[in-house]
Amino acid sequence: MNKDFLCLSDISPDEGWEIVKSALEFKKGKKTSNVLEGKNLGLLFFKPSTRTRVSFEVGINKLAGKAVYMTSSQMQISRGEDVKDTARTLSRYLDGLIVRTYAHAWLVELAKYASVPVINALTDFSHPCQILADITTLYEFFGERIKNIKIAYVGDGNNVANSLIVGAGLFGLKLYVATPPGYEPNAKAYQLGLELSKTTGGEIYLTNDPIEAVKTASVVYTDVWVSMGDSDGDTKKVFLKPFQVNKELLSYAEGDVKVLHCLPAKKGQEITEDVFEKHSEEIFAQAENRLWAQMALMEKLFSR
Ligand code: CP
Ligand code: NVA
Repeated sequence: MNKDFLCLSDISPDEGWEIVKSALEFKKGKKTSNVLEGKNLGLLFFKPSTRTRVSFEVGINKLAGKAVYMTSSQMQISRGEDVKDTARTLSRYLDGLIVRTYAHAWLVELAKYASVPVINALTDFSHPCQILADITTLYEFFGERIKNIKIAYVGDGNNVANSLIVGAGLFGLKLYVATPPGYEPNAKAYQLGLELSKTTGGEIYLTNDPIEAVKTASVVYTDVWVSMGDSDGDTKKVFLKPFQVNKELLSYAEGDVKVLHCLPAKKGQEITEDVFEKHSEEIFAQAENRLWAQMALMEKLFSR
């Protein structure tokens, strides 16, 4: 295991599957761990969060550790203290850092200067902890069939889409990503996904046609059209209209299609309220699995 978890490509496919299976063991109460006993983990957040923050804090408590929550606006970072010194200072107090920020490069720099493990809790580029929970959820639903089903992501080519692509490569999944022209996922994430797919048998297709992506899909995944820190929201919404996950679009999918959403949702934009409610069991199982997947991740990172 690498020191840090900044991208899904920081772990091997075997490590990924170990995390997913261990997450489900935690969930079913088949195992417990006090791997964080005597450890203090810092959560440094530049953006709001409901699921990530709470699931990490609860997960740290369950692993017998302690969490220290820090908002960037109340730290000297907000007055210009540089990333190097922030990393070196926090490493003297804390045993690990969980960070949600804007530029991915800032996080990479922080991890470089931190002597303790750093976990990516979302950047503008990626959201790997989300995808660990998503794969856990899909494995819970589909078991070993997970590699044979068609998974569709429909919407904005954002941080979640980028990580889902890398995740499909790492876990060998069949993924279609449909976005409007000009809102495609990051090219680096796509290349990484393709590269990883070579050894895992993953298949990743990008399209601008939501129907092509959703046709015969067993899973349809979406996320907000306007992410935290996005500036071109209004223009984007116009182009994204045909990518709304609604009854009509879902009529092209398998009859027992599962719908995923990383949340928070903007009902009426990327997903209709009726579709959201019909699939709320799946969506909130996905949210719950953030907790178990992150516990499994931390257990691995901190028992090195
Ligand atoms: N899905 C997710 O990361 O949610 P939060 O922004 O609430 O943490
Ligand atoms: N793409 C969204 C995900 C939120 C969890 C954002 O970055 O705001």
